[in-house]
Amino acid sequence: MNFTIPEQELLQKLEQTQEDFWNISRSSANFLNMLIKISGAKNVVEVGTSNGYSGIWLAKALKNTGGHLTTIEYYEKRIILAQENFQKCGVEDIITIKQGSACEVLETIDFEIDFAFIDANKGEYIKYFDIINPKLKKGGLIAADNITSHPQKVASFVEKIKNDPNYQVEILDLPAGMLIGLKS
Ligand SMILES: C[S@@+](CC[C@H](N)C(=O)[O-])C[C@H]1O[C@@H](n2cnc3c(N)ncnc32)[C@H](O)[C@@H]1O
Repeated sequence: MNFTIPEQELLQKLEQTQEDFWNISRSSANFLNMLIKISGAKNVVEVGTSNGYSGIWLAKALKNTGGHLTTIEYYEKRIILAQENFQKCGVEDIITIKQGSACEVLETIDFEIDFAFIDANKGEYIKYFDIINPKLKKGGLIAADNITSHPQKVASFVEKIKNDPNYQVEILDLPAGMLIGLKS
C-alpha cells in the first residue's frame, strides 16, 4: 500500500477509536481501495464521512486512478476532524466534503458516478439507492456496509437491488457485511 509511515500511524490511531466514529473495518477499507483501483473508478461518492477513515482509503486509491471523492456528512465536528485527517494523508486536494442531509446532497450531484459507497443512516439506504441509481454509470459499482450487522434496517434496500435486473449483487463476508452491486 502507498501509505507513508506517518500515514500508517494515523490510520492505526484512528482504528483505536473506530467504534466511536463508526468507521468501517480495515479489511473493508482495504477491499474498497482495491476495488477502485481494479475498476479504475474516478468519480466516487461516499455517503457518511464521519472522521474520514474510509475516505482516506478511498482517496488513496483515487490518487492512482486520477479521480475525485465527494463525501457527505451532516455533523460539523466530524467534518472538521475529517478535513484534518485528509490533510495529514495528503488527499485533501482530491476530496470535496459536502455538508448536509445525505438525500438532499445526493439530489444535487450533477455528474455521472463511477462508484458509490453507502455508509450512513441504515434505514435510509433505499432512499440513497433510489437517488444514486440513475446517476450511476453502466458498469459502475455500489458498495454498502453493515448489511449483516444491521439486516433489518437495510432489508428494503437489499431486496430492491437484488431484484433489480440491472444489478449483479454479492454480499461479502467482511466484518459488518459488505454488499457490492455491479450495474449493467
Ligand atoms: C458509519 S458512519 C461513517 C463512517 C465512515 N464511512 C468511515 O468508515 O470512516 C456514518 C456517518 O454518516 C453520518 N450520517 C448519518 N446519517 C446521515 C444523513 N442522513 N446525512 C448525512 N450524514 C449522515 C453520521 O453522522 C456518521 O458520521
